[in-house]
Amino acid sequence: MMTIPTTHPLLRALPHGLEDFARDVAARTSLESLRDLLATLPAHLLPLAGCATSQPNSHTRRVLLESPECVIELRGYLPGQRTMPHDHGPARCAFRVLAGIAIESRHERDAKCRVMEAACDRFLTGSVLACEPGLIHSIINEAFSSELLVTLHAFRPAPRMATYDLAPHDTKETRE
Ligand SMILES: [Fe+2]
Repeated sequence: MMTIPTTHPLLRALPHGLEDFARDVAARTSLESLRDLLATLPAHLLPLAGCATSQPNSHTRRVLLESPECVIELRGYLPGQRTMPHDHGPARCAFRVLAGIAIESRHERDAKCRVMEAACDRFLTGSVLACEPGLIHSIINEAFSSELLVTLHAFRPAPRMATYDLAPHDTKETRE
């Protein structure tokens, strides 16, 4: 099931300390340092795992901070929900699995510019992944999972996402 991210109106209060974390994200200029920041997420921010939202017809997106320089957001995926294959435009992205098990598919373009799955791996709670600009991937909570998948994403600069069908030359902009 392909889903488009939406924001849910019922939001749990966020833990204190996000402002300092946002300043840290804005100061990280390399993908490696962004990944390291998420890998050493302070313990007082781990309750963010309970702050993601969910809804039955789509995975959800809760923006914690948004500026031209960086975006920090939570995503919630019920069992069976997934993103479409997408890239992040010019942004570097690192994300951490806060709850559940994430399946990440990475995609490549073949010689005919078709977007094809190149790899698919499972990542346990606590895993941190890094995505270079231009990488095409999708994130999935398996249908037989028993829990909400929650991921915390940090982008520098703000992403301009394009989504892809697994078919030739079929791309559309979803966010400026
Ligand atoms: Fe992504």
